[in-house]
Amino acid sequence: MPSLAADLRRMIVGYRLSQALHVAAKLGIADLLADGPRHAEELAGVTGSHPSSLYRVLRLLASEGVFEELEEGRFTLTPLAEPLRSDAPDSLRARAVFDGEEWNWHPWGNLLHSTKTGGSAFDCTYGVAVFDYLKETPEAATSFDSLMAQTRPWALSVADAYDFADIDTLVDIGGGYGVLLAAILTAHPHLNGVLVDLPHVVAGARPKLEAAGLAGRCETVAGDFFQSVPDGGDAYMLKHVLHDWDDDRCVSILDKCRRAISNEGRLLVVEILITTGNEPDYGKYLDLNMLVLTKGRERTEEQYRTLFEAAGFTLSRVVATHSELSIIEGRPA
Ligand SMILES: C[S@@+](CC[C@H](N)C(=O)[O-])C[C@H]1O[C@@H](n2cnc3c(N)ncnc32)[C@H](O)[C@@H]1O
Repeated sequence: MPSLAADLRRMIVGYRLSQALHVAAKLGIADLLADGPRHAEELAGVTGSHPSSLYRVLRLLASEGVFEELEEGRFTLTPLAEPLRSDAPDSLRARAVFDGEEWNWHPWGNLLHSTKTGGSAFDCTYGVAVFDYLKETPEAATSFDSLMAQTRPWALSVADAYDFADIDTLVDIGGGYGVLLAAILTAHPHLNGVLVDLPHVVAGARPKLEAAGLAGRCETVAGDFFQSVPDGGDAYMLKHVLHDWDDDRCVSILDKCRRAISNEGRLLVVEILITTGNEPDYGKYLDLNMLVLTKGRERTEEQYRTLFEAAGFTLSRVVATHSELSIIEGRPA
C-alpha cells in the first residue's frame, strides 16, 4: 500500500490502539512487568484475563513498540511502555485508563453529533452534564480525579515558571485533588493556599494535602464557583477550569473571582493556548475532548483576553512554562 494511504489507515484504526493501551493500563500490565519479563498466560492469571486474548492485545502493542515480545508469549517493558507504570514520574497510566473508560469512550462515538450540532456528545449520550454525572458516579469520579492527580509534571512547570514572591495567599479555584497547589506551596514555602472545589472532590483532596505535610498552610473550601469564591486571596488561580465551559459560563466564573479579588489582586489562568498553523499541537486534541465531554473549548490568547475583559480584568501578560501550559495573568481593570 502506498505510504500515505498506509499512514492514513494507521490513523483510522488508531482507536484500536487507544483501547488496547487502555486495557493494558487498566490491568496494570506495565506494573506487573516492572520486575522483569513475564508470560502472557501468567499475566492473564494475575489479572483475571483470557490468556490468548490478552496475548493478542499485548502482541499488537508490541508491534507499536509498547512492550516487546521476547520469545513466544513472554513480554517485557520497553522505554515507550515505562510511562504506563503507576510509579513513573511522568506516568500516563491514569490517562490511558480514563481515555478508554466506557463513560468517556461512548461519547467519543458521538463526535459527529457534536460536530453537527455544537452540543456536548456526553450530554447526548448520558442525558446529563459531565460534572453532574461525576457527582453521581463515584467510580467515574475516581478515574477522573486520578487523571487530574497525575498531572504533577504540569504542576511543577507552573511552580517553576511564575514568580510568587509577592503573593501571600493563593486561592486555587476548581483545584481538584490539589496537585498544582501542593507543588506550588512546596516550592514556595512563604505561601498559604486555599483549595476550592465541589464537596466530593475537596473530601478527596484534604487527606492528600495532609499527607504532603501542607495541612497547616492550606485550607480546603467546598463550594460552587458559579455562586461565589472565597475572599481574601492575593491571587486566584484557575487551572484547566475555564476550558470546561462555554464563554458565558467562563465569564460567570471570572465574575465571581472579580468580586472576591482586591484591586491589587491577580488572576492566574493556567491553560494550554491554542496555536495558529498546522504544527502538531496537543491542545487541539484536548480541545476536541472539551467539545465531546463538556461545553468548553481550548482558546487562543485573544479569546482569553476577550473573556477577561468581559469580567472586568485586563490580560496583563502570558508566562510560558517548560510544559505545554501557559499562565495567563489578569489584573483588575
Ligand atoms: C478539569 S478539572 C481541573 C482540576 C485541577 N484544577 C487540575 O488542573 O488538575 C475541573 C475541576 O473543576 C471542578 N468543578 C466543576 N464544577 C465546579 C463548580 N461548580 N464549583 C467548583 N468546582 C467545580 C471539578 O470538580 C474539577 O476538579
